[in-house]
Amino acid sequence: MELNFDLTRDIPVLDWAPHLAARTEGMKSSAIRELLKLTQQPDIISFAGGLPAPDLFPLREVEEACRYIIREDGAKALQYGATEGYGPLKEYLATTMHKYGVPAVPGNVLLTNGSQQALDLIGKLFIDPGDYVLTGRPTYLGAIQAWNAYQARFHTVRLDDGGMVVDEMEHAYEKVLADSGKPPKFIYVLPNFHNPAGTTMSLERRQQLAEIATKLNLPVIEDDPYGQLRYEDEDIPPICTFIPERTIYLGTFSKILSPGLRLGWVVCSEVLMRRFVQAKQGADLHTSTFIQYVANDICQRGLLKPHVRRLRQVYGERRDTMLDALAEFWPEGSSWTRPQGGLFLWARVPEPIDTLEFAKKAIAEKVAYVSGVHFYPNQDGGYNAMRLNFSYCPPDVIVEGVRRLGMALKKALGY
Ligand SMILES: Cc1ncc(COP(=O)(O)O)c(C=O)c1O
Repeated sequence: MELNFDLTRDIPVLDWAPHLAARTEGMKSSAIRELLKLTQQPDIISFAGGLPAPDLFPLREVEEACRYIIREDGAKALQYGATEGYGPLKEYLATTMHKYGVPAVPGNVLLTNGSQQALDLIGKLFIDPGDYVLTGRPTYLGAIQAWNAYQARFHTVRLDDGGMVVDEMEHAYEKVLADSGKPPKFIYVLPNFHNPAGTTMSLERRQQLAEIATKLNLPVIEDDPYGQLRYEDEDIPPICTFIPERTIYLGTFSKILSPGLRLGWVVCSEVLMRRFVQAKQGADLHTSTFIQYVANDICQRGLLKPHVRRLRQVYGERRDTMLDALAEFWPEGSSWTRPQGGLFLWARVPEPIDTLEFAKKAIAEKVAYVSGVHFYPNQDGGYNAMRLNFSYCPPDVIVEGVRRLGMALKKALGY
């Protein structure tokens, strides 16, 4: 049966607005996803998305895993599966998290459709219309988008070059309580190589955050997609290691294997896990069985670790290339973070430049970035900042893109 509309017929346009739920008013398209459409033009140098380098995808490993699974375990891999996820993969993740310092057993692990789904499920489980959540200022755009859909309100805590300024967290909590009569539902933090800020929280700040959250009886969402992509110094234990009972930890294969697989995981207490399972059942029954088998095969055969080692080497070099190019080409008065890992740095330009406006000039020069404004949940900052991704483009393209941006900035400043 043909399901597409017959475009030769004149089909009336229905006004859907009165049929939609009130909460859809809070839903917005992600500025980044819109921008990504633009950056798909081949001649644009894109520092905009959070895309891994396509030339580094482990194509052969994935191909071999797919063949092996279909041959050896095809009937199971193509069947419905448990909402919690595929047992051996849960076990692998629990063991890995254990080595990372998080006291997890398989019963603490839920497989999701990327950590973006985990953010949505958190909204579904915790946020009633008008509830406040605490986030950093700036914070991850996808979290803002997920929780806007549940009509959250955001109260933000400042970031400095050491990540969230934890000293200001208690004041933020008190302010929410005074304004709304209710405590915030949780605090959302990105301790490793923050998206978008590129900052990392020290051990002391993490411990302090854990102590304050305990004192305030505040749940903590710890989003850690980049933890394994560290280019210097030693790992710092996740906040989850100090307060596993009140932390919901989010991990993902997106940046260490492939985002197209759409595979992430949640680690939380078993009591809360039951709620996550209920929320996920209503959303999609379970994460793709086949993809979980593929990821599990790659992990169990020990292929993930060397792949991540390679990513660290290449992305570390790309980060250095971008830092050097910024120092060479950007005007005086600009500054930027020096991320210890991850995919992004946060660059600040001299005051008169509004990065939202300047993006048009950058596009004219065939370079794309994301203005800092998009990462402020209450649109109260970021106008002279931008997020730059350094994982996607090869080094020579990074230099050229940074050079073009530098020239355009200098021109806008009247050099
Ligand atoms: C901080 C953060 N959280 C969550 C996500 C979503 O990742 P996933 O691809 O696992 O859904 C991203 C993706 O860029 C991210 O940067």
